[in-house]
Amino acid sequence: MKTQYYNAVTQKENGTKLAGQVLRAGGLVAFPTETVYGLGADGLNEEAVLRIFEAKGRPGDNPLILHVARKSDAKDLWTRVPEKARQLMDAFWPGPLTLVYDRAACVPDAVTAGLGTVAVRMPSHKTALALLRAAGVPVAAPSANLSGKPSPTTAAHVKRDLDGKIDVILDGGPCEVGVESTVLSLLGQPTILRPGGITREMIEAVIGAVALSPAILSPLKEGEAAASPGMKYKHYAPQAEVRIAPPGSPRAIASSICAAYDVAGRAGKRCVIFATEQTRGFYCNREYAIIGDRKNPSTLCANLFAALRSYDDGAADLILCEPLDESDMGLAYMNRLLRAAGFAVLQPGVPL
Ligand code: TXA
Ligand code: MG
Repeated sequence: MKTQYYNAVTQKENGTKLAGQVLRAGGLVAFPTETVYGLGADGLNEEAVLRIFEAKGRPGDNPLILHVARKSDAKDLWTRVPEKARQLMDAFWPGPLTLVYDRAACVPDAVTAGLGTVAVRMPSHKTALALLRAAGVPVAAPSANLSGKPSPTTAAHVKRDLDGKIDVILDGGPCEVGVESTVLSLLGQPTILRPGGITREMIEAVIGAVALSPAILSPLKEGEAAASPGMKYKHYAPQAEVRIAPPGSPRAIASSICAAYDVAGRAGKRCVIFATEQTRGFYCNREYAIIGDRKNPSTLCANLFAALRSYDDGAADLILCEPLDESDMGLAYMNRLLRAAGFAVLQPGVPL
């Protein structure tokens, strides 16, 4: 299959109109959102939805998010709109918050992986909204990467993973948030299944206490059921190994990273440090990349996936990363980083 490229910036509405027609005809379109690029198909067309799983190599038991152009579209996809959903939609839609609730009968099994619930979100990216309006249907869309790889935050990342496997890539420039949406279940006690651009603190200011799924910061135990099936799969893995320093002061974090760098370097590994504005001074004579400002975790979220991908193709064997506090956007950052590292944290004296 030949993948067509449309540019949402230079072709303006034409690009989104053409891409919308492809979706209506059952095709696959990668498109920008404020979080990451999505790989969309008509969410009410089971055959089209199944093509997403095939193109990504995604396990069939990992459900998809339905993307809508208007808040009012959610009511057709759920059995009803609970009061807390209404409050959250008013506060945060359009934006990076996905809400999970009981599914309506029109939602195909392929979207929900047979679950009784469906995840819905209204993105805020102008191109995403224009495409959703042009398509005129709810659009099922996971991140537009090969399953297991870091999510794509540019059209070039999508091309690298999916060129020749999908109908259209709609280029709308780099994504702003850089990590995927927050996934919040509204069945019973509201529970964050995946942290993202709308933080726990922001949600609690609107609906009161929310729980955090234990799978956010630790691996699922053998045989444990996942509230969100996506949690059980290997995620965000670049080609290099990733290791995280244990928590501590910036100086202590940098010192464990330098020790690991030097040990790995002596063993012939090519290492790179993902540094921050605050710690760059600790890493002199070592290879590092500044990926953000520790005082503003959103900056690290915005750059993480692109930074991981930039060391693919053998550019590094080992990527050493700093942990952040797990509050506000630091929680989303640590959730992605721990998965990229396969939960591997550096331990003093323990071989890498
Ligand atoms: O920001 C985003 O959410 C991006 C953009 C493209 O919108 N999409 C995205 O989709 O990240 P995906 O498929 O990569 O991640 C969806 C997550 C998975 O962890 C999945 O298991 C979970 O949402 N999920 C989907 N439907 C669910 C449901 N009914 N119950 C629980 N978890 C669900
Ligand atoms: Mg994904």
